[in-house]
Amino acid sequence: MKIEAKAIGADYGLGPHTYPRGWFVIAESKELDNGPIGVEFFGKEMALYRGQSGRVVLLDAYCKHMGTHLAKSTSAHVVSSGNQIVGDSILCPYHAWKYGPDGKLEDIPFDDVCPKSGSIDAYVVKEIMGCVVMWHDPEGGEPDFPPPYLPAWDADNTVPWELDHLGEIPLHNLEILDNICDVRHLGPTHGAPCEYFENEFKNEMVIQRQGGFLDLYQSHLDTVTWYTGPGILLSKQTFGEVVMFEFIAGTPVRDGVTKAWHGALCYSANVPPSEEDVQNARNLQAGVLEAFATDFQVWQHKKPALKVMQTPKDGNFRAVRKWASQFYMPRDEAKVIQDELNGVLPVVDFPQPSMEARNAGFEDDCFKPFES
Ligand code: FES
Ligand SMILES: [Fe+2]
Repeated sequence: MKIEAKAIGADYGLGPHTYPRGWFVIAESKELDNGPIGVEFFGKEMALYRGQSGRVVLLDAYCKHMGTHLAKSTSAHVVSSGNQIVGDSILCPYHAWKYGPDGKLEDIPFDDVCPKSGSIDAYVVKEIMGCVVMWHDPEGGEPDFPPPYLPAWDADNTVPWELDHLGEIPLHNLEILDNICDVRHLGPTHGAPCEYFENEFKNEMVIQRQGGFLDLYQSHLDTVTWYTGPGILLSKQTFGEVVMFEFIAGTPVRDGVTKAWHGALCYSANVPPSEEDVQNARNLQAGVLEAFATDFQVWQHKKPALKVMQTPKDGNFRAVRKWASQFYMPRDEAKVIQDELNGVLPVVDFPQPSMEARNAGFEDDCFKPFES
C-alpha cells in the first residue's frame, strides 16, 4: 500500500515547482548488480540500469509502444535469457523496442521506421560514494552545482558504508531540512545539548556547526554538517579520538512522501581495513543511526509544521526554509534568495564556534564537490 502524504509542497508555500531542483539519491549502486530496477521518485516511475560499459542509465519507465514498464519484467524471454541490455541500451520486455541511454528509440525489431516521437525522457545520473544520484530539475536544465563528495571515501584507511535503507515516511523533505537549524532539539531529542552553534548559507549549501557533551558516548561531540541542495547531507563528527562522517539522504517519492537512507564512513586502524575494522565501522554506524532514529521516529508521527511557530531564541527556521525555497523557484529567482541569505547566521544565546571548529569541515581532505 502506498504511503499517503499528510501535506504537500504547495501547503508550505515554497515556490511554483512541486518538486525541488538538485541532486538526489535514488538507489545504492549495488542494487543494479542483478539487472534493471524500477524506481519511483518525484511522482514518476523510472527504469534504472547499468549498461555494459558500466554506465548507469535512468529513463522514464514506460515504453512508448504499449506502455510496458521497462524494468519490471523478470520472466519475459529477452530478460530471463540475459539479453535485455545491449551495450548501454535496453530492450522493452514486450516487443523489444530498443532505447538508448539518452532515451532515444533506436530500433523497432519488426519494422523499418523509428519515429522520433517514440523516444522517452532520460535523466542525468552519477555514482558517488556507493550511491546513484540523479539531477532533478523541473525546468529540465543541466546541473548548476555538483553533488557532494568525501575524498575520504576513496582513502585506503576508511571503511565504506553499507547504507541503511530507512524507507518512506509521510513527511515533506522540508521538515527533514529543518534539522540543520534546529538547535533546540539537540538536548531533548539527542541528549547532546549544544554549547555553541551557527548556520552558514553558501549558495546551494547550508552548513551547521555545533558542539556539546553527548550523553550517549560520555564525550564532547563537535559536528560540521552540510546540505548540498535539499537532498544530501554530510556531517563530520568528532568525539574523543574518533572522526567519522555521517550521510543522510532524503528524496521525494511523491509530493509529501520522502524516502531516506543513512550511512557512516569511518576510519580504520589498518590498511586495508581488517575484519575487526569493518565490524567497528558497522557498530559506529549503528550507533549514529540510533541517534538519528530518534529524529526519524518524531518525523514518522508528527503533524506537518506548515509554519514553525518561531520564538526569538529558536533556531533559524525562517532562513532555512527560505534557503530551501530556492530549489522550488525558477533558477533566476534562486540567485536572488542566495544573495540575500549568504553568510553566517548565529542563534540568540549561543556562542559561535571557534575558528578551529569553523574550519573543521573544510580541510582539503574532508569535503569536496564531486568533479567527474
Ligand atoms: S510495449 Fe514496449 S515494445 Fe511493445
Ligand atoms: Fe536531529
